[in-house]
Amino acid sequence: MKQSILFLLALLYLQLTAQKQLPLNEGSPQIHNATVVGNYPNTELILSIAATGEKPIRYDAQNLPKGLKLDEATGIISGTVTERGNYTVKLVAKNKHGWKEQDIRLAIGDTLCYTPPLGWNSWNVFTKDINEKMLMEIADAMASNGMRDVGYQYINIDDFWHAESRDSVTGKPVVDPAKFPHGMKYLSDYVHSKGLKLGIYSCAGTKTCGKCFGGYSFEEIDAKTYAEWGIDLLKYDFCFTPWSKKEAVERYTKMGTALKNSGRSIVFSVCNWGLFKPWKWAPQAGGQYWRTTPDIFDIWKGGKSNIFRNSMMYILKRQNRLAKYAGPGHYNDPDMLLVGNYGKGKATSWNGNFKGMTDTEYESHMSLWAMMAAPLLSSNDLRNMNDCTQTILTNYELLAINQDAKGEQAKLVKKKRGVWVYKKELSNGDIAVAVLNTKKKHDFFRLGFEMFEGDKTYTVRDVWKHTDMGINNGCVYSHLDAHETSVYIFSKPK
Ligand code: GAL
Repeated sequence: MKQSILFLLALLYLQLTAQKQLPLNEGSPQIHNATVVGNYPNTELILSIAATGEKPIRYDAQNLPKGLKLDEATGIISGTVTERGNYTVKLVAKNKHGWKEQDIRLAIGDTLCYTPPLGWNSWNVFTKDINEKMLMEIADAMASNGMRDVGYQYINIDDFWHAESRDSVTGKPVVDPAKFPHGMKYLSDYVHSKGLKLGIYSCAGTKTCGKCFGGYSFEEIDAKTYAEWGIDLLKYDFCFTPWSKKEAVERYTKMGTALKNSGRSIVFSVCNWGLFKPWKWAPQAGGQYWRTTPDIFDIWKGGKSNIFRNSMMYILKRQNRLAKYAGPGHYNDPDMLLVGNYGKGKATSWNGNFKGMTDTEYESHMSLWAMMAAPLLSSNDLRNMNDCTQTILTNYELLAINQDAKGEQAKLVKKKRGVWVYKKELSNGDIAVAVLNTKKKHDFFRLGFEMFEGDKTYTVRDVWKHTDMGINNGCVYSHLDAHETSVYIFSKPK
């Protein structure tokens, strides 16, 4: 009896306090950039000031190091810094309602991806059906739908951009002229003009997984050509290659080194599906992040005997023991996001056999990937997404957890009655906590603070409801729908 009254009271409280995130293009500015950004010296740097609030916004960047300039109307910082070092830059955004400033550290040195990359990839949703026009539209969408304003940057082209073969004289890679009539440099110029970055895909073997030409033995010429094309990220696959750890380390080191010497800051995404434990060698090979599993499918949970068991939950479970390998500049990659595909993704629905996930399940997927400091690469059609998908992808309070400078991957700290609790320590001493209901029925969960070792009193913020829950002593109660995840920030009261 007592329990059900408590339950009803809590439900009432949640109803009363439920509140949406302020629309991205309303009110005074807020800045969402990661607080540490890395780039190699003497290579092009492109960085958008990520700010939400009513447009027009005027941007400012104070104390920019020599070699960089800001476009005040667009908020795009670009140029080349020669001197290695750490530069504190003050980003400013102003509109008719007010202004906001945020210090960030530009670290010009040997590290990229101090925080996990935020972006988009073509594979899950489009597979081989990509072309220049569509990718330009995707860039337009990211620049105008709020995603760039909350920090998304990368537009990554996956497999099937290739011509039939390389240039027979120079050995250089060549793009499919029907799909990319103006060439790759034209597309990268366009993407960069929007303050975004362009990624590409290749493979450590003689062919890609889609049987286009691969990078085997062409590593230097490919890395140089990608740099000439203005490419900012390379995802490197593992088909058609000799199958051993030694070979994997060699091939990835060869490409990692070639990219490092290419004259551009090109992020290196190691994609060998977790074979030979890449978390142990990929950072030394030059990788900023590495896949930990086979490809993800648009399904909450597959059966044990099901060969398509690579569901969201299966992949999630496989990350639990890998938390210690993540940190600034090197992250586990549990594969792309499925948010907003609803079983329509060409690569992830297995010819329509998977009906996709519900919005609640996509919210959980997003929450858990953000908590795990995973690269957040959406792979839905950005030109055409519903409000719910957009709200999930642009929850900037959640993205701030993902982008926290400490780079910690959340650890699974408790499992009780099918409810799993993940904890991620943040650089300012706060604690982010996700509470996942893995069950098919709703639950009412008591989250006791004893798991935080010592402290019993916190102010709590609900990251999906965008509400402060006040000062809480000893515990908070979480009402969770089936497969729902709540995310909280716990701070010591000031
Ligand atoms: C797979 C990879 C996918 C996608 C595909 C392209 O090996 O895991 O993410 O890149 O190849 O053929």
